[in-house]
Amino acid sequence: MSHTWQGAGRRIHIQEVGTRDGLQMEAQFVPTEDKIALIDALSHTGLAKIEVTSFTSPKAIPALRDAEIVMREIARVPGVVYTALVPNVRGAERAIESKTDELNLVMSTSETHNLANLRMTRKQSFNSLTEVVRTAQAAQVPVNVSLSCVFGCPMEGDVAEHEVFGWAQRFVDLGVQGLTLCDTTGMAYPTQVAAITRAARERWPGIELTLHFHNTRGMGLANVLAAIDAGADRFDTSIGGLGGCPYAPGATGNVCSEEIVHALQLMGYDTGVDLDRLIHAAKRLPPLIGHEVPSQIVKAGRRLDLHPMPTDFDAVRERALAREH
Ligand code: COA
Ligand code: ZN
Repeated sequence: MSHTWQGAGRRIHIQEVGTRDGLQMEAQFVPTEDKIALIDALSHTGLAKIEVTSFTSPKAIPALRDAEIVMREIARVPGVVYTALVPNVRGAERAIESKTDELNLVMSTSETHNLANLRMTRKQSFNSLTEVVRTAQAAQVPVNVSLSCVFGCPMEGDVAEHEVFGWAQRFVDLGVQGLTLCDTTGMAYPTQVAAITRAARERWPGIELTLHFHNTRGMGLANVLAAIDAGADRFDTSIGGLGGCPYAPGATGNVCSEEIVHALQLMGYDTGVDLDRLIHAAKRLPPLIGHEVPSQIVKAGRRLDLHPMPTDFDAVRERALAREH
């Protein structure tokens, strides 16, 4: 088995979540027109999907209280799927009304995290989301379900695999198009990711499967590579490495879009993304959010962004060569 060239040409879909998972956490409100301009820039980078916003209660997530305007006023680029997070029927109606391409529903596989995040038991969430799925189906809008804490819950610890697969199966039975397995607080590790990804691929070959990692403990890229080896080809990532969950203790950023694209391109995968444009978009963030972003690519540049030689280089070389004779 050759590891060196295994990336050659394989298509990996990159789904941007920074404008939702990222901006929902930011203390500084990003003006609506700046959000629209950022998403419009992202639309021209080659991303497969953009999670534009969330149609949640404006009291719960004030940073995204302008969801309707943003979703309506972005310039849609054909081929890009514009999705949004929806917590309930009210959110689904708002999202459908705003011509969202896909509804992304969330619930946690951990009872504690679900209660903390959504103030409902998992059973109550599932019942409420069943109604959301029916609403979407009536409007012929595809549904993706993001399951939180699949790789561990910050309050409960490991979540049993039969819980994860049991909740996922219930949504598959409802007829949803996609499932996202979320590592909400960066607890996933590569061998665990490989096992769960492989099992999900085998169990639901017809479902669009996404992996969603946070880089909380520095395992993000390793987890992406493990998931790819196990058959995954879709990842949620965020520009600048923004992100987190307001109700998950210790949560930090998603895996960073430009870091993942940079690494995958070097390895020969086809992400379809124009890295220069993506980095350019990431560099727009600091003035909008009022702080630097975690992105190592924004800080250090690409692997072959070469640096000028030191100004005294010629003198140093002369001296070194003189010592040779
Ligand atoms: N859009 C707009 N407003 C909404 C709404 C939606 N989707 N859902 C609820 N509301 C409003 C209600 O109208 C009500 O407003 P009022 O106080 O002016 O009457 C208020 O929010 C509370 O509604 P209620 O039905 O009691 O819901 P809740 O307070 O239990 O909140 C959620 C439930 C899930 C809607 C809310 O907690 C939420 O949006 N959380 C965000 C979760 C999230 O996105 N987390 C990060 C992702 S991991
Ligand atoms: Zn997340």
